[in-house]
Amino acid sequence: MKLEAFVIFIWLTLATVSSYTHDDLIIAAGDQLELLSQGTTYRKLTLNSYNASKLSALAYDATTKRLFFSDIRHLESHILSVSLEDESPRLVEEIIEKNNDETVESLAYDPVNKMLLWTDGFNRSIRQVQIDNDGIHAKENTSVEVVHLLESDARPQALVSDPCTRMLYWTNIHNSLPTIERSHINGSQREVIVHSDLLQLHAFDLDIMEQMIYWAEDLRNGFFLIERSYVNGSGREEFYHGFGHFIASLTVGEDYVYWSDYDRKKLWSLPKDGSSKNPVNLRTYRNPAMGVVVYRNEPLNCDLISSPESLAVVVQKTELIENLDSSSSTALLLGFSFVCLVIMALMILLILQFLKSRDCKGIRGSSKTEDTVPFQNFSNTLFKMNELSQMEQQQTVNVQMPENSSGLKRDDDFATLIKCEF
Ligand SMILES: *[C@@H]1O[C@H](CO)[C@@H](O)[C@H](O)[C@H]1NC(C)=O
Ligand SMILES: *[C@@H]1O[C@H](CO)[C@@H](O)[C@H](O)[C@H]1NC(C)=O
Ligand SMILES: *[C@@H]1O[C@H](CO)[C@@H](O)[C@H](O)[C@H]1NC(C)=O
Ligand SMILES: *[C@@H]1O[C@H](CO)[C@@H](O)[C@H](O)[C@H]1NC(C)=O
Ligand SMILES: *[C@@H]1O[C@H](CO)[C@@H](O)[C@H](O)[C@H]1NC(C)=O
Repeated sequence: MKLEAFVIFIWLTLATVSSYTHDDLIIAAGDQLELLSQGTTYRKLTLNSYNASKLSALAYDATTKRLFFSDIRHLESHILSVSLEDESPRLVEEIIEKNNDETVESLAYDPVNKMLLWTDGFNRSIRQVQIDNDGIHAKENTSVEVVHLLESDARPQALVSDPCTRMLYWTNIHNSLPTIERSHINGSQREVIVHSDLLQLHAFDLDIMEQMIYWAEDLRNGFFLIERSYVNGSGREEFYHGFGHFIASLTVGEDYVYWSDYDRKKLWSLPKDGSSKNPVNLRTYRNPAMGVVVYRNEPLNCDLISSPESLAVVVQKTELIENLDSSSSTALLLGFSFVCLVIMALMILLILQFLKSRDCKGIRGSSKTEDTVPFQNFSNTLFKMNELSQMEQQQTVNVQMPENSSGLKRDDDFATLIKCEF
């Protein structure tokens, strides 16, 4: 039945919208590291015998529960790491020693090869080191390998690796010709994927599950723009256009995009599917949050990566919701009234289906004892649905509920009538 399929599609779509939660995030702001759970509760991640100075790049490996970070003012090292395992004493290890003419702009970890990769804006290269055991301590001139040595005027900045497709993505914030590029994780097949209309490229992330890239740019006069496209650079579109944020970092989670800004020192979130047009401020810090990463309990499941077909569904969803309304609260309200109506329609369809298998006369003629059972269930389910949506939302649209005893009878007759005319 086509109508049924459509109804179920809408119902599922709206049900997902209302069930979004924020990801758990690890945030580096100034000399503080914190864990922000579901966008609400936060706790400081204290490091054992280590006074941070200015934390910047972060990379988290869910397979070993290890956090890699860079501390700009650290005297001896520029990449450090700490285990976030529950029982861990949080001892900080120095991974890469510092030389004079090197910087760490961004970190990425590849759990497959156990490789830590980083971009060096000064040396204009992407380098890597193998993290094969605990307590690795490398000098820049020994075990470090160069993955890419870029052109003399390049300035590589953001870096993200994709453990599933074995790709590496980075931004080049060259003054006049900024680009977004990618290659295999081993460095082969380097290609530019976005090169036109990039103004001041600031932050970048990859949505591995949906195979999309997101980036933020500064426009003139205090405006900023967040754009996204498929990982091959096609299907480019505006994700958010706003005012007053000079974006410091950007991270894509399961349902939300997060970013932090320099001036107001806030962390923002916005749903990926376009169901809201208003970024929500999750936290405000004393210093800008330079590093924001998703804290996963489990490593990514590469089997769940979107195929092009399911990507099409995501796009359809976005369009559907955008068409409902631009303002988020109205959209939500509309969504809930839709859900209620759709649930009712679904129930009626189910009942019709149920009644179809029975003789119409039988129902009309029979005594109430046997045939009220399905309607009793119907009525109960509706009541439960109503309670549920009231719990989730204060502005729930009221579904007209039949009174317990007399209503049952009305429903009964109503459904029988429909069935007989059908
Ligand atoms: C960290 O700072 C505190 C207070 O400034 C100081 O007492 C402590 O010795 C410092 N620890 C390290 C490892 O530098
Ligand atoms: C960058 O680092 C590589 C490897 O460490 C080195 O060979 C190269 O000379 C450096 N380049 C610059 C411009 O410092
Ligand atoms: C690496 O550099 C250090 C000094 O920074 C030097 O003592 C050491 O010999 C170098 N090692 C190699 C393999 O070049
Ligand atoms: C790099 O990786 C790609 C894809 O995994 C592979 O096809 C290619 O042969 C590799 N190149 C080298 C030099 O290992
Ligand atoms: C880019 O990726 C999208 C989505 O996977 C696909 O539809 C499109 O054909 C690709 N474009 C090119 C030029 O490969």
